[in-house]
Parts: sequence; C-alpha cells; structure tokens
Amino acid sequence: MSVESSMDDSQGTSKVASQDAGVAAPRGEAFYGQLRQGLDQLRGDGLFKPERVLASRQGAEVTGDDGRTLINMCANNYLGLSGEEWVAQASIEATEQYGYGLSSVRFICGTQTVHKRLEKAISEFLGTEDTILYAAAFDANGGVFEPLFDDNDAIISDALNHASIIDGIRLCKAARFRYAHNDMADLEKQLQAAAGKRHKIIVTDGVFSMDGTIAQLDRIVALAEQYGALVMIDECHASGFMGRTGRGTHEHHNVLGRIDIITGTLGKALGGAMGGFTSGRKEVIDTLRQKSRPYLFSNTLAPSIAGASLAVLERLSASTELRDRLHENTAYFRQRIEEIGFTIKPGTHPVVPVMLFEAPVAQKFAARMYELGVLLSGFFYPVVPMGQARVRVQLSAAHTRAQLDTVLAAFEQAGKELGIIQ
Ligand SMILES: Cc1ncc(COP(=O)(O)O)c(C=O)c1O
Repeated sequence: MSVESSMDDSQGTSKVASQDAGVAAPRGEAFYGQLRQGLDQLRGDGLFKPERVLASRQGAEVTGDDGRTLINMCANNYLGLSGEEWVAQASIEATEQYGYGLSSVRFICGTQTVHKRLEKAISEFLGTEDTILYAAAFDANGGVFEPLFDDNDAIISDALNHASIIDGIRLCKAARFRYAHNDMADLEKQLQAAAGKRHKIIVTDGVFSMDGTIAQLDRIVALAEQYGALVMIDECHASGFMGRTGRGTHEHHNVLGRIDIITGTLGKALGGAMGGFTSGRKEVIDTLRQKSRPYLFSNTLAPSIAGASLAVLERLSASTELRDRLHENTAYFRQRIEEIGFTIKPGTHPVVPVMLFEAPVAQKFAARMYELGVLLSGFFYPVVPMGQARVRVQLSAAHTRAQLDTVLAAFEQAGKELGIIQ
C-alpha cells in the first residue's frame, strides 16, 4: 500500500475512499452500520435481550430500579445464598485478611492459602483427588480439553451441552462426535464410531438448565466402562443440591467416584458470585495447572469469593437443610402448578419449565406476571425448539411457602386472563 493510500487524517477518514467516492465516509462507518443493522434485526425478530436492572441484593424478593418489589423466580440462586448476610460477611472477612485482589495469575504470585483451602474443600465435597480454580466455569470448560486431548483422541458430546463446553471442544484438536440429546442408543453408536481413537471422553451437562433434565449418568458410566471411555460432567446446575447430600448429579445417580472430570461454578448454588473449577484425578489437575490457558493467562479468583465459597462449602458439608428446603419447595411448586392446570416438563429438578408453546403467549405471560409482581423469564425459538415456548421457573431454598403461594396465585390469574387454563 502506498503512503498516499494509507489511513492518515486525524478525522479518521481515508484519502483513497474520499477521492474515489468524492464523499468522506467516516472511518469504520460500514462496520458500525452493519452492527446497527444486526441489532435492529434482533429487535425486529423479538430476540433482543434487554437487561433487567435490580436495585437490591439478589434474593427470593428483589427490588427493580423502578422501585417495584418482585418475587424472583428466575435466578440460579438455588440455595438462596447470593444475598445471604453470613455469606457476605465471610467475603468481607476474607477481604480483610487477604486483601482485595492479587494482581497476578496463580503461578506467579497469585496463590494464597485461601485458594488452596478452597480447592481442597471442593475436592472433599465432590469426592475427587484435586481441584483447580478458574475465574468462571466458562473458563473451566474452555480450558479443559486442549491440554488433555489431541488429534489422536475423541470427544463425544451431548448435542445440547452448554456453550462453554462447545467452545472448549472447538479449541481442541481431538475428533468430535455428537450424540442426540440424552439419547443413550446414539451415544453407544458414537462410542462405536470413535473406536479407533486413543482416548475417548464422554462429555455431558449433569443437568440441562433449559428443561431441568438430569443426565442419565448411571447409563453413561456403564457405557463408558463397556467402551473404555472417560466421563466428564458439567455440574453448574447440580453442585450443592443434587443427590442425598448435595454433592451433585454423580451422587444423585450413585456413581460417586466413577466420574473422571467434574467442572462447576461458584456463581450459582455455591454462593452466586462468580468463579469456576475443574475437579478430578491429580494428574489431570496437575496437567491443567501447567497447560490450561484460562488458568495460566488470567487473574486469580478474588480472595473475597474464595473465602465466602469456603464458608458455603463448610455449611453445606455440615447440614443438608438448605438442599432439603429447596427440594421441598420444588416438589410443592411442581405439584401445585399442575393442579392449577399448567403443563410442565416432568422431573424433580428446581428448574421447572412451564410450557406455553407459542412465543407470543410466553412473552405476554411473562409481561403480565411482571405486572403481578413476579420476575420470570420467557424462552422461545431459537433458544428452545419451535412450538416449545415456555417460562422457566427456578426454585430457591430462600422462597417461603407464602411467596410460592403468591406466585402460584399469579400464575392462575394470568393463565385465566390469557386463556391458557380454565
Ligand atoms: C451448564 C453451564 N455450564 C457453564 C456455565 C458457565 O458458568 P459461569 O457463570 O461460572 O461461567 C453455565 C452458566 O450459565 C452453565 O449453565
């Protein structure tokens, strides 16, 4: 490119462009115009996601920035800890002891005793040998495959796995096999197709958050044992409350100790701030500490989060009270909402999809529930299949019976007004 044709004026316009077109097009205008068009398209298609702004702590009840009080039925606050005072206090104490942050990645000078204690506590809680912390579960999933597998290997992944698993697999050279969602016959077919590969790993969400579907880990582990494959589960919607003592989907399905790799989040049931982890055999975790890029090239988890997460795990290890309350709330809501006349996806998980089928109905319903003081999210195509629009209710241990009854009454009222139920 000649000197004359380079971008060189302080207004950000190109000489060549202005000479050719005779009009100065501001630098980047085509790019920004394309983005505006894309955003307009999303708005036009009804797919634009506005942010709801809260003026309060997260909780069973929240205050919007318009001052309205709402019962919150759409947070991943399964154990109700996000706004809980003793969790906030634990984070303040950790800040006082360890400071605000580390200004370092873990391996340079960013590891404190609180991080090592939390890794040990997570391992003990999950029944694994070792654990590595990340800034988010998205990073844990993004950084788990590439250091462990290469083009000699095969990753066999459920079609509806979380976006972070899909991205993590993309970053790895292993051969990819996808099995139809939750379909064990297809999983077996894919295991057969991957037969020539050196190492094989089956990867699944422990719980799929759109439907509350619990992966069939007992059958998955049996197939893995038959075909000599490893198993990895993402426990973001399970750690802390699934299974008899809340260890997760592996406890729920009685396969404790038979899962090779577990990833999870500290940003949902286990406190709700942020942070993620990968847990498993020592040689896996040691390898990730040496080679996992989101761990090597990103800052340490804040000490406040590490300290509060530690306090949460201590509480959950000592008592199943919160987990029990969550499951009681879930069973109550699932039973009552069906009695009122709504159709839900069957199951036992605190994610309860209330089916409204048509997108405009789901949108209108969520808007009416907001007016009635209930915060809910509507999901429709392309987030869920066409004709499967719904509102997704998420129960919390923090919900009182009175709050659930208020929500159920609002469901009944809105359902009748919109002609969804009799
Ligand atoms: C199944 C699953 N995996 C991973 C993540 C990412 O978790 P985090 O918020 O810790 O990055 C989420 C969060 O939405 C999730 O639902």
